[in-house]
This record gives sequence, structure tokens and C-alpha cells, in this order.
Amino acid sequence: MVDLIRWMLLMFSLICIASAHPQSKVFNVKSYGAVGDGKSDVSAALLKAWDDACKWHGRADVLIPQGTYMLNSIVFKGPCKASRMGFVIQGILKAPTYPSLFNIDKWIGFLYVNKLILSGHGTLDAQGASSWPHHNCSNNYSHCPILPITLRFDFITNGAIHGLNSINPKGGHLMIFGCENVIMRRLSLSAPGDSPNTDGIKIGESNNINITSVKIATGDDCIAMISGAKNISISDVHCGPGHGISVGSLGKTDADIDVQDIVVKNCTFSGTSNGIRIKTWAASLSKTLKASNFLYQDIIMEKVYRPINIDQAYCPNHDCSNQVPSSVQISDVTYKNIKGSANGGVGVQLNCSKRKPCQNITMENIDLWAYGGKGQLKSLCSFVKGASHGKQIPPSCINA
Ligand SMILES: *[C@@H]1O[C@H](CO)[C@@H](O)[C@H](O)[C@H]1NC(C)=O
Ligand SMILES: *[C@@H]1O[C@H](CO)[C@@H](O)[C@H](O)[C@H]1NC(C)=O
Ligand SMILES: *[C@@H]1O[C@H](CO)[C@@H](O)[C@H](O)[C@H]1NC(C)=O
Ligand SMILES: *[C@@H]1O[C@H](CO)[C@@H](O)[C@H](O)[C@H]1NC(C)=O
Ligand SMILES: *[C@@H]1O[C@H](CO)[C@@H](O)[C@H](O)[C@H]1NC(C)=O
Ligand SMILES: *[C@@H]1O[C@H](CO)[C@@H](O)[C@H](O)[C@H]1NC(C)=O
Ligand SMILES: *[C@@H]1O[C@H](CO)[C@@H](O)[C@H](O)[C@H]1NC(C)=O
Repeated sequence: MVDLIRWMLLMFSLICIASAHPQSKVFNVKSYGAVGDGKSDVSAALLKAWDDACKWHGRADVLIPQGTYMLNSIVFKGPCKASRMGFVIQGILKAPTYPSLFNIDKWIGFLYVNKLILSGHGTLDAQGASSWPHHNCSNNYSHCPILPITLRFDFITNGAIHGLNSINPKGGHLMIFGCENVIMRRLSLSAPGDSPNTDGIKIGESNNINITSVKIATGDDCIAMISGAKNISISDVHCGPGHGISVGSLGKTDADIDVQDIVVKNCTFSGTSNGIRIKTWAASLSKTLKASNFLYQDIIMEKVYRPINIDQAYCPNHDCSNQVPSSVQISDVTYKNIKGSANGGVGVQLNCSKRKPCQNITMENIDLWAYGGKGQLKSLCSFVKGASHGKQIPPSCINA
């Protein structure tokens, strides 16, 4: 009798604990009919697994186990009831080849989810090579097709992306838009250096983004922080081939908003066209747009064409007929401990706007030499105000 009462008390308390701390549950796509044979489309199975996970009151994990899965374009939408949404990719996801997914903006999207963790050691393979030849608009952007970004986070809060690989995107690898508190770590993003517009990570209108231990080899910017990127921390990134880590381009239209508080630390650039770059359009806005408070520290350049570059007359397709000085105000930028080699003759180029000269640019311990020991590098400044401290190779052009 005493045992029975004890047993009932125990069961009662277990039930209380269980309802106060709902359990975690795994939603394996295989139980929803997904077949990892490299041929069958798994969109329907994945959406069903996501819907069930999203309704679960507790920690939910959608699991894509090992195997190769074909996946059409898809959007996973919140808000979710789950206290934390996990999405674990162990297998390989493949997008259909050209002409599928031509002129759409994303392959895999996540929208309006709080506490979303993507992980696993799986691979997103957008099979972009077949669509790259159709992106033939290098001289005329108004005639350019839209190629889907492999993975988009839109309006995600408290999210993370860990351990994944992205290869051969059709458009960019990863886009973060309208997000807050997102961590990206231990990622590998790769595409050939001549693949068109394959940005690594693009960040717009987002706050508190942390990128660390990421290896990026791609055909466009390794990381691009565009309109409204704020409080971004980037560390331990290896970039190359690619176009470097960029702010901008900014200020093409009045819709753009300020970019501020960016730290880029302990990164290596290898064989890239630019290293650390800030680019703004030569365009007149009806307001002053601000790009301010950036710290670039402990950066290594290996055979980079333009290691340090501020370009306020950005015009990639050379058809900006009525160029006017940019309305973007760049200020409070520190370059500290930047060393390595350049193969474009110019180590430092700070081409600021005549209308809004750059303010408070600091150079500290710069040590850049010509790749292969061919002569001395130059530094070029226009409309730059600031100061230099410590070693300056090439000699600083600030206030010169
Ligand atoms: C450009 O791409 C289109 C398909 O979008 C293709 O029909 C055309 O042949 C391509 N042109 C060139 C010059 O490659
Ligand atoms: C770019 O392409 C568009 C659409 O085909 C055309 O109207 C425009 O004239 C082209 N611009 C240039 C500079 O070739
Ligand atoms: C900036 O972002 C980090 C996370 O990357 C966060 O810990 C910190 O509180 C943020 N700072 C501000 C001022 O919001
Ligand atoms: C970004 O993440 C790294 C690794 O987790 C951490 O060391 C660093 O403090 C974070 N930075 C910020 C600003 O939160
Ligand atoms: C710098 O980054 C490399 C990886 O790119 C990492 O191995 C190393 O620990 C980092 N150093 C510091 C001081 O954070
Ligand atoms: C110059 O910029 C640094 C940060 O980059 C900031 O700490 C400092 O206050 C700025 N100085 C002035 C005079 O604005
Ligand atoms: C620097 O900017 C001016 C416009 O202010 C532009 O005319 C010039 O071509 C730029 N120089 C370089 C080397 O980009």
C-alpha cells in the first residue's frame, strides 16, 4: 500500500515535470516519406516535418539524415510554438539544374522564426554551374536575371547556422535580412572564383550578427554588409578566391540606411581582388547616409590586388554617366595590424567623396609589400581626414 502511494506520487511528479518542461522531439524526414536516393524530390516531406515540428510545444529538431536528396525551392515559415527549432542537415541537398529556379530569389528560405538553429555537417549543393552561363549580363545589369540565393534567413531572431557546407550556389550562398542575434560558425562556402555574383554571406537590415571560423572561396564578395547592417562581428574568416569583405555598395538610392559598428578581426585574404573594402555609389541622395565605426584588425593579405580600399565612386559596369560625388559620409574607421602582399601596385587606396570627405580614418601598423618583391607599393588618398601611427609601409597618404 505504501509502495503504491509512493509510486502514484512519483508518477504524479513525473507528469508535472513533463508538462512544465515539454520534451524534445526529433522529426526525421524519412518518417515523412523522404527518400535519399538523389532523385526523388523531398519538398513535400520536408514541409510536413517542418509543420509538425513547428507546432510541437518543446524543443523540436527536423532531421535530414545521411543520403542525397533533391529539393525544389522551399520556404520554412514561422512563427513556431516550439521553444527552439532545430534543423539538422546530415545529408546532401541538391537543387535542380538550369532552367529550374531561374529568376527566383532563393532556393531554401527560413522566415519569421525565433530560436532557429541550423546544424549538422551536411551540404547544400545548388548545382549552380549549369545556370552561370545564362547570367550573361556583365555589361548590362538592367538585363540581368535573378539567380536564387542558396539559403536565406528573413526576419529570424536568435538564430544560428553551424557546421554546414554550401557549394556551387546559383546566386549567392547565404543572405541574412531583417534578422537580429544570429551566429554563424564553422561554415564552408565554396564556388569557383569566376562564378558570377556568388556572394558568400550578404547581410542587410540586421543587428548583432556574429560570424566566426568560416572559410569562403567564391566568385564575388566573401562577405558583403549592405544597407542597415549594424553591430556585426567577423572573426577567423579565410577569404579567397573572392572579392574580399565589403561594406556596400551603399547610396545608390534614398532607400538605403546607415551601416555602423563593424569589427573584422583575425582574417586572411588569399588571392582576392580586394581585401577590406568600403564601396559607395557616386550618386546624390536627398539625405546624408552614414557608414561609421568600423575596426579592421589583425588582417593578413596574401597576393591581394587592392588590400585596403575605400571606393566612393563605385561603378562596377562603367555606365554611370552623370557621376557626382557620393553623399555617403564615412567616418571612424580604424585599420590596425594589416600585413602581407599585394599584386596591384597599390597597397592602400582611400578614394573618398569631395562632398563628404572621410573623417577620422586611423592607420596603425600597416606593413604591405609588393608580391614577388617587385618595387614598392603606393598609397593613394583623396579627401581623407585622419591620422597614422606606428609602422606605415607603404608610407601613409593621410593628411600628406
Ligand atoms: C545569355 O543567356 C541566354 C539565356 O538566358 C542565352 O539564350 C544566350 O545565348 C546567352 N548569351 C550569351 C552571349 O551567352
Ligand atoms: C541594357 O538592356 C536593356 C534591356 O534589354 C536595354 O533597354 C538597355 O538599352 C541596355 N543598356 C545598355 C547600356 O546596353
Ligand atoms: C552586438 O552584438 C553582440 C552579438 O554579436 C551582442 O552580444 C552585443 O550585445 C551587441 N551590442 C549592442 C550594443 O547591441
Ligand atoms: C562572436 O563569437 C565568438 C565565438 O563564439 C566569440 O568569441 C565572440 O566573443 C563573439 N563576438 C561577439 C561580439 O559577441
Ligand atoms: C585566427 O584565426 C585562425 C583561423 O583562421 C584560428 O586558427 C586562430 O586561432 C585565430 N587566432 C586568434 C588569436 O583568434
Ligand atoms: C575616431 O574613431 C574611433 C573609433 O574608430 C573613436 O574611438 C574615436 O572617438 C573617434 N574620434 C573622434 C575625434 O571622433
Ligand atoms: C576616385 O574618385 C573620383 C571621383 O571622386 C573618380 O573620378 C576617380 O576615378 C576615382 N579614382 C579611382 C582610382 O577610383
